[in-house]
Amino acid sequence: MASHPIVVGNWKMNLNSKQTGELIMSVKKEASKHSSVSVIVAPSFTYLDSVGKILKGSKVQLAGQNMFWESEGAYTGEISAPMLMESGCSHVIIGHSERRKYLRETDHMIHRKMVQALECGLVPIVCIGETFEQRQQGIKDLVVMQQLQAIFGGLIPTEKQNIVIAYEPIWAVGTGQACDPNEARETIQVLKHALIDMYQEHVVQQNFVALYGGSVDHTTITQYVDGDIINGVLVGGASTRLDSMLGMIRAVDT
Ligand code: 13P
Repeated sequence: MASHPIVVGNWKMNLNSKQTGELIMSVKKEASKHSSVSVIVAPSFTYLDSVGKILKGSKVQLAGQNMFWESEGAYTGEISAPMLMESGCSHVIIGHSERRKYLRETDHMIHRKMVQALECGLVPIVCIGETFEQRQQGIKDLVVMQQLQAIFGGLIPTEKQNIVIAYEPIWAVGTGQACDPNEARETIQVLKHALIDMYQEHVVQQNFVALYGGSVDHTTITQYVDGDIINGVLVGGASTRLDSMLGMIRAVDT
């Protein structure tokens, strides 16, 4: 999938209504000056509707931070893909390590969510990454490949179904200790080769893009985004700070 540099801001459970409104207005304005950068924001569920209205007609895209694998029904507290789309979402983050850790999300659940997102027309941003201990044990590549295979097994994307893979080493998320850009690149290559083993190369090129996530900010973003192996970044903390978020958009404009 040919792609502009991508900056995804995952605002997690941060920013109240006023802060969200202020930040989105500035992001919208900055993004309008950088047409070669794809900007995607993922605010809290409760603000999706209002942010979606603000973003109407703008090039900034909206993402849910999670979704459920059924379209409707008795699933208290869950949000469906059609509901996200009604609020204006084009993307949805799936399988974030914080959900795996605190809510025991499994690869199987992530697989079901991804299939549902694709069926409904949302672009899934699928998070994959190893723990610090797994990296220390030298099994990082094995772990990420196993996650990939468990999540993508049985899926054959159609021509129009785009998928974003976000490599987020868990030890780098929210720690200020980012993964070395070359190591991130190598791991993403491992993932892309695993995808090529599952699908044909042209399918991977056509349907997939890859992001790195974990302690990126405006001062480091250009070390990662190379327009080839790493197409963009998935950012938490820095994306909630005005200067950093706008700085990242500016930094990757070519
Ligand atoms: P930080 O940028 O705060 O490390 O978070 C990364 C992340 O989890 C994005 O989804």
